[in-house]
Amino acid sequence: MRRMCAWVVVLAAAGLAAGVDVHAQETEGAAAVLPWAYVLNDPDVVAEASDPDEVVTVPGSSVSMPRSAIAIDNGPPDWHPDGHPPMPEVVATGGGEGVVACGYCHLPNGQGKPENAGLAGQPYEYLVQQMTDWRNGRRRPGEPRMGPPAFMERIGLAATDEEARIAAEYFSSMAFRPWVRVVETDAVPETQFAGWIHEVVEGGAVEPIGTRVVETPVDLKLTKLRDDSSGFIAYVPSGAVGRGRRLVLTGGDNSVACTVCHGPDLRGLGPVPALAGRSPTYMARQLWDLKTGVRDGAWSDLMDAAVADLTVEDIVDIVAYTASLEP
Ligand code: HEC
Ligand code: HEC
Repeated sequence: MRRMCAWVVVLAAAGLAAGVDVHAQETEGAAAVLPWAYVLNDPDVVAEASDPDEVVTVPGSSVSMPRSAIAIDNGPPDWHPDGHPPMPEVVATGGGEGVVACGYCHLPNGQGKPENAGLAGQPYEYLVQQMTDWRNGRRRPGEPRMGPPAFMERIGLAATDEEARIAAEYFSSMAFRPWVRVVETDAVPETQFAGWIHEVVEGGAVEPIGTRVVETPVDLKLTKLRDDSSGFIAYVPSGAVGRGRRLVLTGGDNSVACTVCHGPDLRGLGPVPALAGRSPTYMARQLWDLKTGVRDGAWSDLMDAAVADLTVEDIVDIVAYTASLEP
């Protein structure tokens, strides 16, 4: 009996060690494989100095505030209060300890940004399940060095089931609006990584797109002001949308048809999430996280056949197509 216990301990220790190693391998690789999706800020990009007292506003808003009020995580700006139902407290100002206001990153109308996720219009059950997965340690960041997903993990671990349900009810009650304009091209403006996104370098060169998606704000100044009515443009390789369409509809050589579960127009089906018109950068991170298994939620097994053999090229093509669809 003692012997067996010792074996169990050894096995458990080995399993744990192996688990840690595998995790390290998976996570260290993510930014190396998909640097445009797991964005790590360039250390040499210095933020432009700005006056914290300067009063700022955005187009179509009657709200104004000092610049210093933009980055307040327990009370993010609400530029367009008529553009969404009244926010519950957890969305507007945050919940219990460690539960930062959801609207700070996902924006008051839930449209989200490439470094986080659009929550508006996702099924209620799906949003609640994701929060449960975080709480249970089953949704881990594919690249811990990328700030926002690691932050979301901490919030997911801290949020109560009630907070999750209130936020899910709010975000699922809104429709997701057209937010990303997809442009096929061979060449893109030079970008740098700052604020966890692609910023176009002012006066920069034009460079080959290669095998990547370059998603960048339509108006960087407005995105920095957390304007929830200013969206994104996603440059994708020429031909990617058509190749992605074929993959999504048939599964191609490396996958299975997505429409069976995500709906004929990828607008979601029952509790299965919508993909149409949403950030290609976010979707690429999820495909990779599901493939490597760091995202291993209660429902993630359903995605196994779809992601097991996907290549980086497949991922670029798929997310180019899904982002190009009307949400
Ligand atoms: C500090 C920024 C930040 C805040 C605040 C934040 N999130 Fe997130 N959230 C993220 C990021 C980043 C992701 C994407 C994670 C990834 O890429 O793997 C995300 C993803 C999600 C998702 C998954 C969406 C999907 O399609 O699977 C849900 C659900 C979610 N957040 C809910 C919430 C709720 C509820 C709150 C408020 C209690 C909240 N978040 C607050 C950054 C944030
Ligand atoms: C058998 C059903 C099924 C099939 C087929 C399927 N999916 Fe999914 N998909 C799901 C489920 C269920 C989830 C939620 C997984 C979770 O909760 O971890 C999901 C999640 C996703 C996500 C993450 C969405 C988000 O908001 O985080 C992406 C991206 C995705 N699927 C893309 C695809 C693509 C692309 C295909 C086809 C190549 C596909 N799926 C095929 C069931 C399926």
